[in-house]
Amino acid sequence: MLDINTIEKLDRIATPFYYYDMELLRKTVDFVADLAERHNIKVHYAVKANVERRILEYISSKGFGADCVSGNEVLHAHSCGFPAEKIVYAGVGKTDKEIYNGLKLGIEAFNCESLQEIYVINEMARVYGLKANVSVRINPDIDAHTHKYVTTGLYENKFGISQHEFDKLIDIIKKSEHINFYGLHFHIGSQITRVSEVFALECCRVNDIVAYFERNGLKVDNINLGGGLGVDYDDPDENPIADFETWFETINANIVRREDQNVHIEPGRSLVAQCATLISRVLFVKSGETKNFLIMDAGMNDLIRPALYGAYHKIENLSAAQRTFFPTHQAYDIVGPVCESSDVWGAGRLLPLSVRGDLMAIRSTGAYGQVMASRYNMKDLAPSVFSDTLDEAPQVVDYFA
Ligand SMILES: Cc1ncc(COP(=O)(O)O)c(C=O)c1O
Repeated sequence: MLDINTIEKLDRIATPFYYYDMELLRKTVDFVADLAERHNIKVHYAVKANVERRILEYISSKGFGADCVSGNEVLHAHSCGFPAEKIVYAGVGKTDKEIYNGLKLGIEAFNCESLQEIYVINEMARVYGLKANVSVRINPDIDAHTHKYVTTGLYENKFGISQHEFDKLIDIIKKSEHINFYGLHFHIGSQITRVSEVFALECCRVNDIVAYFERNGLKVDNINLGGGLGVDYDDPDENPIADFETWFETINANIVRREDQNVHIEPGRSLVAQCATLISRVLFVKSGETKNFLIMDAGMNDLIRPALYGAYHKIENLSAAQRTFFPTHQAYDIVGPVCESSDVWGAGRLLPLSVRGDLMAIRSTGAYGQVMASRYNMKDLAPSVFSDTLDEAPQVVDYFA
């Protein structure tokens, strides 16, 4: 829960907005930078989780690379301080224009997801007289034990190249004169909470695949294990920083690597999820036939995760926490204003008695929140407010005054 001073300041700002705790962001990033150095693992931040300029600028200043999944992400990451030679670019559907821009920029590597993509990149590099670094994203067919919408490493998923094409793949790479084979890339899913079990399994599978490529004449200089570390959505105050130690230790204990082989990871969610809170206000309290509704001014247009994959976010009434009497608690269905029945923040949530105007916190919203916001129902986009520049935010207008 936020402290009283901060809540008082937030209460003067027009809602809804994303509040970024920059101190927690720095703490998290610094902690990971330290672990990465100790374990000799290269970190590329998965930009898709959050593209806020200030966040990217801080992460790039710590020497991290960027993992991008679109041409615009590549350009944005570069403009936020990530050098081209530390930008990798994955994604199953890269357009010619996006490939061209990546080639011209001289990015670290394209993480290719199909044989045809390798062929196209080789041809474009030939036409422009360039040589492209190409890693190959492999689908290792591993169950990440997470939500089916964020599982990416099973054969039923569209990502990566599967085992049945390995021999063809090796052949194409050897014949493609305008690419350098950079290494192998994996990413099996997101919000992985069975950390040691799942990542150990990933490493074992990766060891076999790397050995297969090397036996067949391709030296694998870079092994990229992707992202996926989960965060604690239930109790963000107890665990504000994800279990990076276990992740790094599991990798180091299980990956087989030569001294001249680089190991990379691509955390997205785990670096940024806990540093943001979506701040909203209760517009109306309504008694339904069988339940009570709290109608908030933030909706699925601001944060789609609950509507999209039934994601859980902890919700707190910040104003009630400041009231001096001890309020009774009540179960509410907390909903947004959007004209969709799926615009629900949480059903049957127990909260202190809440009233119109109460300031509400939707926790752990720094990853896959603002980046997925839309203007559905022609709503305005919720802006960013930063803890270190709180006083500069647009203030509430009192329309009754
Ligand atoms: C290729 C790739 N790497 C890394 C990530 C980051 O995953 P996470 O946010 O779970 O760490 C993603 C996200 O889906 C991804 O697609």
